Amino acid sequence: MLALEQSRAYLEQLTNGSFLISKNGERTNVMTIGWGSMGYLWNRFVVMVPVRTTRYSYELLKDEHFFTISVPKKGQMSRELNYCGTKSGRDVDKIKDLALEMEEGSIPVPHLRGAQFHLECKILYKEEINPEKLNGLIDLECYPQKDYSVLFYAEIVNIIE
Ligand SMILES: Cc1cc2nc3c(=O)[nH]c(=O)nc-3n(C[C@H](O)[C@H](O)[C@H](O)COP(=O)(O)O)c2cc1C
Repeated sequence: MLALEQSRAYLEQLTNGSFLISKNGERTNVMTIGWGSMGYLWNRFVVMVPVRTTRYSYELLKDEHFFTISVPKKGQMSRELNYCGTKSGRDVDKIKDLALEMEEGSIPVPHLRGAQFHLECKILYKEEINPEKLNGLIDLECYPQKDYSVLFYAEIVNIIE
């Protein structure tokens, strides 16, 4: 079982910049994430990632059950983090453009070779942020375009190191 101490260290590394990998049928996409949380919910170790509904990743994820988070070592893969955080899979094939090597794991979504560890995640719950319930300052600071996130809560079913 994942120790709470360990999950804090994972979270710190995750928020330095990580890759969220989504897959829907033949379409696989890689997007940079920098926000998230980890905790213990419903008797399980759970990670939460916010994905704005405007993202191509959201389109791929919304009816699926799994995603992967590949977490690089601090300071590594900055070219990939930058590209995957500024280009949309709607317009470009990020995997092809960066010659990313995707590896199969134990869930239907692959992970990104070269990262230090990978969280294989099974979606348990998702909910779009309701601006009426959101702190006004956060709304102004983080959602000036009103492109709210859907919060995906997922069980960490496997960690590949
Ligand atoms: C450092 C960094 C962190 C980011 N974190 C998030 C995030 O947590 N959630 C999100 O929806 N977008 C986040 N983004 C923006 C997406 O990565 C970006 O819009 C990307 O182009 C979306 O790709 P897609 O349309 O292929 O899904 C982040 C971007 C960067 C550079």
